[in-house]
Amino acid sequence: MCNVQIIQHGELSGDLLKSIIEVKQTAWPYSCDSQLDWIKSNLKSTDLHALLIDEEGRILAYMNLIDLSLKLDDILFKSYGVGNVCAVERRKGWGAKLMAHVNSYLSRHNRYGILFCKQKLVKFYADNSWEQVPSEKINIKKLDSGVITMIYPMFSQFYMLEFDGSVF
Ligand SMILES: CC(C)(COP(=O)(O)OP(=O)(O)OC[C@H]1O[C@@H](n2cnc3c(N)ncnc32)[C@H](O)[C@@H]1OP(=O)(O)O)[C@@H](O)C(=O)NCCC(=O)NCCS
Repeated sequence: MCNVQIIQHGELSGDLLKSIIEVKQTAWPYSCDSQLDWIKSNLKSTDLHALLIDEEGRILAYMNLIDLSLKLDDILFKSYGVGNVCAVERRKGWGAKLMAHVNSYLSRHNRYGILFCKQKLVKFYADNSWEQVPSEKINIKKLDSGVITMIYPMFSQFYMLEFDGSVF
């Protein structure tokens, strides 16, 4: 049996931070120092870490949730930006399990989710109830070309999505 823990960045212990870095290194092989620098410069105390954990306390999948606001048709909505999604072993359903839990967390907390990904991962997120936002409905200045924007929940009704923070 697995369980999911969602922890505020400001409350993360040093040991857990070390374990998260080890998990992230399975997907992005940067040094521990460079992972730490990234975390220090990109995460605020109100951002969240979401961890899928097995019976032995091993982290199987991970993502972070950036506390941000999205503008949909000129109205600001508290939302979370999903990033750094990774599973220590691929195609075992661990990524999907963590996504399902995070989706229900977003729904319970009445927040939209937004994420940016490459084309090849659109299927994974779409299979997990996220929806690709068509480029004509996006106004995000710092978005590189070829990066896909996805939103949760599916079928969100709006004409224009604006976000002026940095793309995580
Ligand atoms: C993307 C990722 C989190 C998915 O987690 P997972 O536990 O492997 O996925 P699940 O087992 O729950 O689901 C399997 C689905 O994931 C997708 N997937 C998994 N590995 C993939 C890969 N290398 N390329 C493209 N899609 C992949 C596929 O849609 C797959 O479905 P399929 O088997 O029907 O093709 C995981 O593969 C990973 O850690 N990737 C490296 C880090 C990364 O790129 N993260 C995304 C940042 S936006």
